[in-house]
Parts: sequence; C-alpha cells; structure tokens
Amino acid sequence: MTNSVLAKFPMLANRIGEVAEVAGYLWQKGWAERNGGNITVNISDIADDSLRNLPPLVAGIPIGRPLSNIGGQLFYCKGTNKRMRDLSRAPMQHGSIVRIATDGLSYDIIADYPVKPTSEMASHMSIHDYLLGKGSSYKAVLHTHPIDLVAMTHHREFLQKDVLSRLLWSMIPETRAFCPRGVGIVPYALPGSFALADATIRELSDYDVVLWEKHGVCAVGENIMEAFDMVDTLSKSAQIYLTAKGMGFVPEGMTDAQMEEMKVAFHLPK
Ligand code: 13P
Ligand code: ZN
Repeated sequence: MTNSVLAKFPMLANRIGEVAEVAGYLWQKGWAERNGGNITVNISDIADDSLRNLPPLVAGIPIGRPLSNIGGQLFYCKGTNKRMRDLSRAPMQHGSIVRIATDGLSYDIIADYPVKPTSEMASHMSIHDYLLGKGSSYKAVLHTHPIDLVAMTHHREFLQKDVLSRLLWSMIPETRAFCPRGVGIVPYALPGSFALADATIRELSDYDVVLWEKHGVCAVGENIMEAFDMVDTLSKSAQIYLTAKGMGFVPEGMTDAQMEEMKVAFHLPK
C-alpha cells in the first residue's frame, strides 16, 4: 500500500474506495459471477502533474479508434478477467490507472501494476468520450449482470421502446423518482465490440441506464455510487414484478394518473 498511488493521493484513494465498495455490492447482489461486469471512473479532475506524468508500466495500447475528447484523461479501470469480489478487497491489484494519449488513439497503464483493463474498453472509453464531448460532468460507467433485468431482456415485448421503463416505474414510486430517465434498450451485440459501444451511446442521449439484450446493464452517473443506485432501484422494481408473478398474478402497477402525479410533484424530466 505504501508504494501505491493511493497512499500518495488521498482523493484518489477515496474515489477508488467507492469503486471497491460498489464492487463488493455487485458480488453480494449476485450480479458479478466470476469476472462479470466492469467499472471505469474518470479521475482526471483529482490528478496533479505528478500523477499525470507517471512513467508508463505498459505504453501505447491501441484503443481501436480515435477518441479525441478523452485525449490526456486518466481513468481507473477494472482489470479484464478480474473478479469484483477480489477488486473490493484490493482495487489496485484487480484494476489499474490508465492515461489516454493526447491523440486519443491509445493508452498507457501508469499505476500501480500492469493490470490489463477490461475487455469492454471499447464501450467504456467510447462512453467517456461521448460524455466529455457533450460537456457532461458524469465520471462513472458501470456494466453489470443483474439476473432479473437480464431475464427481462429475453422477452421480445419488453424490448420495445419504453415498455420496460413504464413497467419498472409503475412497480414502486421511487423507481421513477430515482431513475427518472427510464431504461434504454440495446439490441444484442458482441461483448467488447464497437458495435455495442455505438448502440449504447445512441441510447445514452435519452437514458442514463441501458439494458444490453441477453447480457447486462450499462449505467452512467456523476459517480459510481449514483450509477449503482439506479441499477439497484430498477432491479428492485424487477424483483417486485417477478415476485408478484411468482404469487400467480400480474402486478397491477401504478396507474397512469399516479405516475403523472409523481412526475409533476418531483419535477421529473419525462
Ligand atoms: P472483463 O472481465 O473483461 O471486464 O469482462 C467482463 C464482462 O462482463 C464482459 O462483458
Ligand atoms: Zn458483461
């Protein structure tokens, strides 16, 4: 720990500590089998020159396409094939800090160890590039495998636009209040691909949480706790739906009038 960048930069230790806390929740929730899921967080705002200019442990790893908005930015990234339950104990052994080249074409791993970042870098870095490009202050991207929400993406009807947003909102008022933009749908695409990245970005103009058909969830937020909370809230709604179905009935759901009342009272965007 004493040689870790976390010992030298308390703000960084805080931010990565939050990632570790959320990684533990993902495991406890049963959303993170084996190495399932990944997290990246932009740490550029809390990096000083001594962190920014660390010599590379591994230099010039290609991203696969130019992402000019994230040129020069620093990210903490979960390592590929690393387990959330391990990352929660030792985030710098199961993830690393990367610095994007100024031309946005490649990255260096700069701390603490040469842990290769997640296989979903195409999506994560494309999303960060998109967020910075539109001037967003969001710093966190979370991808995870919640059983209930993934199961729902195996039903064709639920993949129609906003069918699941309305259904999940209507299960309990908090879901609309705390996930006010609803949930977008990304048709199945190969994990790790730029096709998945591009389809996700298209949905992120309307939503902060998107479902990857037959795979998982991808959420963005100001910080990792906020991204986790939205997925957790949506999963709670999915659980209520499934529990009611298990009891042998289709849950009634809040009425349109009750949903409209929520929207007005909480000044919600949709
Ligand atoms: P990584 O271990 O490479 O992060 O992959 C996990 C995953 O969920 C891929 O979609
Ligand atoms: Zn996945």
